[in-house]
Amino acid sequence: MADLEIDVLTIFPELFEPFFEASFVAMARERDQARIEAHDLRAWTDDRHRTVDDTPYGGGPGMLMKPEPLVAAIEALAGAKGPERETKVVLLTPQGRRLDQPWLEQASRQRKFLLVCGRYEGVDQRAIDLAIDEEISLGDYVLCGGEIPAMVLIEGMVRLLPGLLGNAESVAKESFTQEILEGPQYTRPPIFRGLEVPEILRSGHHAEIERWRRERAIEWTRERRPDLLVDRKDDRKSDRDDQSDRSDTPASNIKDDTRKPK
Ligand SMILES: C[S@@+](CC[C@H](N)C(=O)[O-])C[C@H]1O[C@@H](n2cnc3c(N)ncnc32)[C@H](O)[C@@H]1O
Repeated sequence: MADLEIDVLTIFPELFEPFFEASFVAMARERDQARIEAHDLRAWTDDRHRTVDDTPYGGGPGMLMKPEPLVAAIEALAGAKGPERETKVVLLTPQGRRLDQPWLEQASRQRKFLLVCGRYEGVDQRAIDLAIDEEISLGDYVLCGGEIPAMVLIEGMVRLLPGLLGNAESVAKESFTQEILEGPQYTRPPIFRGLEVPEILRSGHHAEIERWRRERAIEWTRERRPDLLVDRKDDRKSDRDDQSDRSDTPASNIKDDTRKPK
């Protein structure tokens, strides 16, 4: 049995073929660590035109995904919604919770997913109420369909499969996993178009290198994504109401041993 099973429901299953056949997704499938399949929603239609959309009640532009084939497909692939269902059914939608690394890490504890890709102007609300467990957004912008967001989820989940990346440390040190961004990185050559790799990285002093990386990571987070530090500060403020013995320095969330001499 695979560690991760993902079914995808879409009207464009062919979009997934090249994605499934490359890089870590292909590797996970070849090793039977993951079973990932795309299903054509039109297989659950019963009219000659294989219709999956209809006009919205109340008027307005565009079409909506009809509830009947969607709910039939979801129930066939994942079972009926309820506490007995083992599969988490996720609708990709700009109206959902924004995807982040903590969501992926939490999700990696679950084994079975069905990802539902919207198209047109979205999905009849009754299908969502009756069959969807969670709504996930890729960000505050609108795409034409849920297929690319579904691929993002798949790749994010697959790369957390144990042993797949070969180096668990690389996962642990990446941006967001440690709640701050990863700092700048360099490979050979040591000088490229006059730009030199920082000497410390070539020094072989592992502790110093670690300290330098941590400092750069904190600096970059302050410059590029200060919200990550501010958000955590706010979290701590509300925590403090319960636990008055904590400090409240602006970046007290970042286990900032680099600011103190070792
Ligand atoms: C044109 S969009 C529909 C947008 C919808 N009318 C609204 O205003 O929220 C069609 C489909 O693309 C997908 N989609 C678009 N943007 C997305 C995003 N930021 N995150 C996840 N899915 C998205 C969803 O599956 C959605 O049902």
